[in-house]
Amino acid sequence: MYAFAADPALPKPALYRELLSAADALTAGESDAVANMANLAALLFQLVPDLNWAGFYRLVGGELVLGPFCGKPACIRIALGQGVCGTAAATGETQLVEDVHAYPGHIACDADSRSELVVPIVRDGAVVAVIDLDSPTPARFDADDQAGIEALAALVATRV
Ligand code: SME
Repeated sequence: MYAFAADPALPKPALYRELLSAADALTAGESDAVANMANLAALLFQLVPDLNWAGFYRLVGGELVLGPFCGKPACIRIALGQGVCGTAAATGETQLVEDVHAYPGHIACDADSRSELVVPIVRDGAVVAVIDLDSPTPARFDADDQAGIEALAALVATRV
């Protein structure tokens, strides 16, 4: 058992420093990508407030395929360029969506989701997966969340 905890009153930069430290401790000595993604999804869901879904989509055979996550069962395959995740994977750029209902092509896996943050994981210059966070609160994510999850993506790029 790993008991990571963060004070919900922490400012976001401090929260993400805690998250990165815990993520590093959890994954540093483990080479199994599925185990690492599973623990990272659990860690995100536990430490980042106000989420209804947190997890991974992996680039497999030219499309995104669902990876380890916490939340409701989700869409299994997403074409590159489709939805928020497919756009992040196709462009290699983070997608920060304040209102998913206003995002053309948004794929609704959980009707509770109102805002979304998707960060590509890049290894050797190529996108290999994305980290997807969904929140039931509109405009839940900001530049601090983006910076924190982008730092996480860089940290774990060789471990997932
Ligand atoms: N909303 C995403 C699909 C994945 S779920 O949110 C888990 C999208 O538009 O790509």
